[in-house]
Order: sequence, then structure tokens, then C-alpha cells
Amino acid sequence: MSKYIIEIKDLSKQFPLPNGDILEACKSINITVEKGTSLGIVGESGSGKTTLVRMLMKMLPITSGSIYVDGVDIAHMDKEQMRTYRQNIQMVFQDPMAAFNPRMKVKDIICEPLYNFGLLKKGTEEQIAGDYLEMVDLPRDFMNRYPHEMSGGQRQRVAIARAIVLEPEILVFDEATSALDVSVQDSIAKLLAKLQKEKNLTYLFIAHDIAFVRTMCHTIIVMHKGRIVETLDARHLGDAKEPYTKVLLSSIFEIGKPHHPLTLDIE
Ligand SMILES: Nc1ncnc2c1ncn2[C@@H]1O[C@H](COP(=O)(O)OP(=O)(O)OP(=O)(O)O)[C@@H](O)[C@H]1O
Ligand SMILES: [Mg+2]
Repeated sequence: MSKYIIEIKDLSKQFPLPNGDILEACKSINITVEKGTSLGIVGESGSGKTTLVRMLMKMLPITSGSIYVDGVDIAHMDKEQMRTYRQNIQMVFQDPMAAFNPRMKVKDIICEPLYNFGLLKKGTEEQIAGDYLEMVDLPRDFMNRYPHEMSGGQRQRVAIARAIVLEPEILVFDEATSALDVSVQDSIAKLLAKLQKEKNLTYLFIAHDIAFVRTMCHTIIVMHKGRIVETLDARHLGDAKEPYTKVLLSSIFEIGKPHHPLTLDIE
């Protein structure tokens, strides 16, 4: 058994365009992720970040190469493995207001994934919603609110509660916190660090800029035009060699200061 929870080997994605051209959105991507760690994926708009995670989420077929999760080739899973996989990897959306049904109460929003998988026992809804609200540091009575009765940061917490209710191993954040202001980002980052420790979660963060992900991640990969141009240890961003990475890093003014202490217990 591999020591990696995620192993991506020589992965490529090509989109045929209407004019007959081929767009190579991801080219020969190789990534390994250890369980319980966080990987940041940064790069400019159109560099292939979302395409990469959509293949991982099985929302998009792979053109070539392979993705192994927990040692299983995700392109060749039987029905039962597929069902387990869909529970095991969850996405946290950028704008929970758009992702939530405005007429659903928080308790129904949180319990919906359980319901969809046939795992919700009658009469347990309030207990479960309350427990998961507590895990994301919201009061239990928030379960009776509607999405518009909460702040953006509170909605983000509900989105996280919903994402962990199936007790997945992997959470994927595609620009999930970029819409929040910096102080709220910081408190969400602390919450995510706490949950990661408690549940040994593996995180994938997609972002345009390195500033946020470096506080959260152990490793950061830099994508440019579908390729990984550099893989960085988040504690040693100053070691970046590629000119493209240095340009991205120049957006952080505090470069050179020690790594933010939020990511706990990195060996
Ligand atoms: N379904 C599709 N059909 C054709 N081209 C696509 C499709 N999805 C994505 N692309 C193209 O693939 C490239 C990579 O897109 P992708 O969404 O992965 O970028 P990104 O790094 O997530 O960008 P952003 O930071 O703006 O979200 C882009 O050129 C995009 O136009
Ligand atoms: Mg994207």
C-alpha cells in the first residue's frame, strides 16, 4: 500500500475546441499527497487548477495518465467503490449562498448529503446538525436559520459542516475563502487547521495567490499553462527557483518572514 493518499501520475487533459484545435488544460501532472497534509495549487487564471481537481472529483474524464486515491485507480472503480469514493472526497464551494437552496434550513443543508446517500436515520437530523454546527464553532440553534440569515463567514462554516458530515478523508477548496475578508479568512483557516488535526483530513486548496495557501499548506504546487512549473515546501518559499514562481511570490510582501504558525505539527 502506498504511503500517499493521493497519487497523480502523468495526468493530462485535452479539450477539443470547435475549430478543431486541441486545448491542453493539464499536461503530464505528477503529484503525491500524504494523508493528513494540505496541498496548495496556485497559478494564474486558466492554468488548469480547476480542471485538475475536477478530474480528481470524477466530474471530468481523464485524457491520459492516472489518479490513485487510497491505492485505488479512480478510473476503474466498481459501483461500490464509486459510492464510497463519492463520500470520501468532498468539495467546499466558493460561494455558499449560491450553492445552498435559499428555502432550506441549515439543519437540512447540513444533513442533505447523508439523506442523498440513504444514511440519514429518521429523527436524528437535529442531533446531527447540532453536533456538526458545534464542530465548526457555531451555536446549535443556527440549525433553524435560513442561508440569508447568516454572515458570509457563518455560511462558509455551514458549508464546511456540510462537507464533513459524511466524514470524508479529503476536502477540496476551489477558491473557497477568496470571497471572505482577511480576518474571516483567518478564523476559517484556524477552524480548518483544528478539524484537520482532529479528523486527520487531507486538504487541497486552489487559489490564485500564494498568500492564503501558504498559511494553510505543507506543499504548494505552482501551475502555469497546464504544467507544474515548481513544487515548493510552504515553509521555504524563499527557495523558489523558477522565474514564474518568483513573480507569483512577489505578491506577498512578508516574504522572508518565518512560516505562519497556523499549520500545526508539520514534521
Ligand atoms: N469544458 C471545457 N471545454 C473547453 N475548455 C475548457 C473546459 N474547461 C476548462 N477549459 C479550459 O481549460 C483551461 C484551464 O481552465 P481551468 O478552469 O482549469 O483554469 P483555472 O486555473 O481553474 O482558472 P481560474 O483561476 O480562472 O479558475 C482554460 O483555458 C479553460 O478555458
Ligand atoms: Mg478555477
